[in-house]
Parts: sequence; structure tokens; C-alpha cells
Amino acid sequence: MKKLAYKDIIHTKQFSRKDLELIFETAEDMEKILSGAHRGKPLEGYIMASMFYEPSTRTRLSFESAMQRLWWSVITVSDTNASSLSKWETLEDNAKIVSIYADIIVMRHPEAYSVKTTAAATLKPVINAGDWPHQHPTQALLDVYTILKERWTLDNLKVSLVWDLKYWRTTHSLVFLLWLFENVEFVFISPDELKMPNKVISFLDENNIKYTQTDNYRDGIKDSNVLYVTRIQRERFEDISEYEKVKDDFILDLETLWWNTDITIMHPLPRVNEVKEEVDSLPNAAFFRQAENWVPVRMALLYLLLG
Ligand code: CP
Repeated sequence: MKKLAYKDIIHTKQFSRKDLELIFETAEDMEKILSGAHRGKPLEGYIMASMFYEPSTRTRLSFESAMQRLWWSVITVSDTNASSLSKWETLEDNAKIVSIYADIIVMRHPEAYSVKTTAAATLKPVINAGDWPHQHPTQALLDVYTILKERWTLDNLKVSLVWDLKYWRTTHSLVFLLWLFENVEFVFISPDELKMPNKVISFLDENNIKYTQTDNYRDGIKDSNVLYVTRIQRERFEDISEYEKVKDDFILDLETLWWNTDITIMHPLPRVNEVKEEVDSLPNAAFFRQAENWVPVRMALLYLLLG
């Protein structure tokens, strides 16, 4: 039986290249189950507690879909007000109780390290589905799986990440995974107000990973292999005038892409206006293919933690 060597998925720094190989091989097996090429009911009877205390469409539904594709079941809390956390129950007590009812917990929460606290309070596996503004490790795993499927390699890649690099936890998680591969190089494209945080920059400096920072979109993509676009997250700004200053700065259109017609375009979604719809039909626009990888990668993670 294949299994990951740890109980929880909390931070992308926990993964080795070997872990990624195991997760991606298992995700390919899961794709065969999804396509009907493999039948079988792996490990029937598990229950996942889906606890989302921040809005989510993709992460929550893809985890719940993954669970049901494995013929397992889901119990759910989708709103802090519908949970006893709103009655000042501690995360620790909450974790102890939920783990009586479920075999695995998937949790999104608005505080950094809240999922780690939950994981420490239970013997059951816990998966971080986003602890703002910290990590979104399962998104980064399926992002790297997508890059592998689109580019056929994870080595010698130049990866540009654009726009809201300060608040987008998926960009931080992605950098902490891609550094594992040979000769990776990053370009961070953003206005000054939304630059990649120091925790990521100092990690790259300490590990001698190459990166550049720019506020010029065309320069930032011109010789890259992958472009990871993010939405500017209006909901994260305390001062809305700061949002207004930068809200139209980085819109991806066909004219910008003239500078690099081979670049693989990715996006964690949801999209608002940062990628014009005229881009969608390009063969290198991979963001909807990326969304197809959400279920098999999450099936693989559930299987490898519970197996
Ligand atoms: N990318 C992502 O986490 O999407 P949701 O917020 O819809 O889950």
C-alpha cells in the first residue's frame, strides 16, 4: 500500500521530490478511475469533514468530488457562523470533536497557522485548504502537476508570477515547491504595493535560487516558460483606495502575449478581469486544463493519507 510519510498536509516546504513523484503517479492512477479505464472501490467507508470558514468553490467542491469519486463520504461545515467556533470554541476542541465523526479533515480558515493548530490537536490527518495569508499547499501541488503535463519537465524552467504576489498564498506555496527542481528561475511581476513578501525572497536568497522583480509585464514574460496569473484580491485590502490605485495595472491580452507566444498560461482562478477572454482559446492557455487536475490530485492526496 502506498502512503505518504506524514499525517498532515500543512505547508509545501514539507514535500521532497520523491513525495511529488508518488503523488503524481497516484494522480495518474486516479485519472484512470475518473475516465472509467479502472474501476474498483479503494478503501470503502472513509468519511471526510469538509470545514471551510472562508469562501471557496473549486477547492471545496473538488475535495468533495474527489472523496465521492473514491466512494467515500463527506460531512460539511461551510460557514463559521454555522459552527461552534462562532461560540468561541477553540480550534483544538473543535478538532478533537470533528475527528470523532470523520477520518480526515480538510480545512480552510482565515488565520495563518490555524490548520496547523487543528492538526496538532488530533491523530486524524488534516489537510490545509488555505490558511490565509499563509499557505495553500494542495493548490500548489496541482499547479506543479499541471506544469509537468503541459511542459513535460519540471527542470530548467523560468516561471513568471504576476500581480498580487503579496496576498496570493498560492504563489508563495508554488515557489516553495518549484525550488526543488533543477535550475528553476522566477520572475515576480507586480506593482511595488503587491511585491512578493520577504519570507519568500529571503528563502530564495538563502538557497541561491535565481529571481528578478519587475513592474513591466512584457519584460517579465518575454523569455519565460510559464506565466502564473493571479487576480487582484479586493477583499484582502483594508484600505480600498490602495486597491483602486493598482486595480487595472496588469491585464493579460493578446497584445501582451505577442512578446512570448509559447508561454504556458496558468491561473488558480477565480478570474475577474486580469485575463481577457480573447486569451482563452490560445493553445497555451492552460488554466481550464489546470482546473481538470484538481480532482485527481486531491483524490491522490486523500488516498495516500488514508491508505
Ligand atoms: N483557487 C482556489 O483556491 O479557488 P477557490 O477559492 O474557489 O477554492
